[in-house]
Amino acid sequence: MIEYDVLVIGGGLAGMSAALHAGEVGASVAMVSKVYPTRSHSAAAQGGINAALGIEDSWEVHAYETVKGSDFLGDQDAIEILCRDGIQDVFALEHWGVIFDRNEEGNIHMRGFGGTDKSRTCHVGDMTGQTILHVMYERLLRMNVKSYDEWFVTTLLMEEGACCGAVAMDITSGKLEVFKAKAVIICTGGCGRVYEPSTNGLIVTGDGLSLAYRVGALLMDMEMVQYHPTTLPANGFLITEGARGEGAYLLNSEGERFMQEERYGATTLEEKASRDVVSRAETIEIQEGRGIDGCVLLDCRHIKDRILEAFHQISELAIDYAGVDITQDPLPIRPGMHYMMGGIKTDIDGRCYRHNGDGSEPLPGLYSAGEAACVSAHGANRLGGNSLLDCVTFGRKAGVHAAEYASSINSPNISEAVIEVEEQKIVDLFARSTNERAPALRLEMGEIMHTFTGVFREEAGLLEAERRIHAVRERYPEVSVHDKGRVFNTDLLAVLELDFMFDCAETIIASALARKESRGAHTRTDYPERDDENWLKHVAVYHTPDGPAVTYLPVTITKWQPEARQY
Ligand code: FUM
Repeated sequence: MIEYDVLVIGGGLAGMSAALHAGEVGASVAMVSKVYPTRSHSAAAQGGINAALGIEDSWEVHAYETVKGSDFLGDQDAIEILCRDGIQDVFALEHWGVIFDRNEEGNIHMRGFGGTDKSRTCHVGDMTGQTILHVMYERLLRMNVKSYDEWFVTTLLMEEGACCGAVAMDITSGKLEVFKAKAVIICTGGCGRVYEPSTNGLIVTGDGLSLAYRVGALLMDMEMVQYHPTTLPANGFLITEGARGEGAYLLNSEGERFMQEERYGATTLEEKASRDVVSRAETIEIQEGRGIDGCVLLDCRHIKDRILEAFHQISELAIDYAGVDITQDPLPIRPGMHYMMGGIKTDIDGRCYRHNGDGSEPLPGLYSAGEAACVSAHGANRLGGNSLLDCVTFGRKAGVHAAEYASSINSPNISEAVIEVEEQKIVDLFARSTNERAPALRLEMGEIMHTFTGVFREEAGLLEAERRIHAVRERYPEVSVHDKGRVFNTDLLAVLELDFMFDCAETIIASALARKESRGAHTRTDYPERDDENWLKHVAVYHTPDGPAVTYLPVTITKWQPEARQY
């Protein structure tokens, strides 16, 4: 048995931030990651990290715009922390060695991004996440935080109602181990690959959401699924919002800059309106016949110099996967699944919650941060550039609180025998001689989710999604593992991940069915208006043997009362 005060599951930015800060306040801490940490999905974040550093900006303006971006569903206590305290976290990254791009005065250069007319997105070209990830990993090595790389967690452990560790498999040997911990922090990212296509890495399979859900944690705002306005049609790859932030246009087949048109309210921010707004407009253009092969166009030709200077990654992606030189020709793009605003419900210290009959109560020992979590700093729609900040800031807070909690309790009492249950599950999977294959079911699930729970939803489609996902899940017991070896068995991993993904799909659909209004990324064509009187509340779900059960939690409002949302 391996024992630590704090066990962090997930090796991306949130996980590293949590591990570093738990270690800094004196806890013994380890990080478990199913991939080598620098390959975590945080690496895919291109455009940047927000911090209101400009003299014409302030954390309050950033917070207000985040609240407005969230369509007033975001919890404003969390948003204040994100936008105010996050500034120091960005400075800390810079001091640790993140080589943010500079302006001519030598200060950190900030680019424009969605949902604001300010420039507040600090960046390293269009490889910001990758750069921060590497610097934080160096920091982790320097702090001697133990990292179990390429380990897959199969279950969380509970003792007397508190989380006290996990069972994980060393992928390189297939051997299971018990990790005993006084506190566990889930930082496994979102569940983007429940959709096909998605901007998310193939590893983003919602493992942590499902692990927490299965031990009773509430998942919140799961209906809030962000479609990013600019993704490549061939494979869903991200083309950063930073391009529009720095002046790129969107055009339809008639050559119109449709975001300037009256039919979309002639938004003052135009292409830089919030992502939900732009993704809806693009979808309508395409549906009404003003698209080109299911796409609209991103025109970067007039910002060629900036593209050559600061957008190397998207230039290469466009050439390699669309055959387009974006300095010469417009690029076909379309909205694609990008981010989960929803996740494991936490408070501002990262503590997870469970249903308790007439509300919710903390689930002792369990924490979460980053995209896996829903502290609800993003509500119904996240502003670009706020997710890296969320990872770093709320990762820090979860790490510190978990370490303090761990120092206040005795070592839990768990037995090695728990391993036998997990081992038996794997033996049973190997014994199946049936012929369903995990990738096929995964693809079916992803296409169902994209078709019925994408940019626009309505009751009949959601019920159809529920029925079809149920039917696909019923085939799960027939999924077999063809590779019978234990060493680096990715066939086995795919089957284990698939099981987690079904929980995520079901909770998204149940939450989307529950919310009978349109707000942010959740656009119900059968309930087209936002309805603050009845729906200014969070939808939360918890696990029951019959599937997800829905409950509701209040939205925290500090300074900003709901108002009509226009861009
Ligand atoms: O467009 C982008 O670069 C994505 C950034 C984000 O999701 O924060």
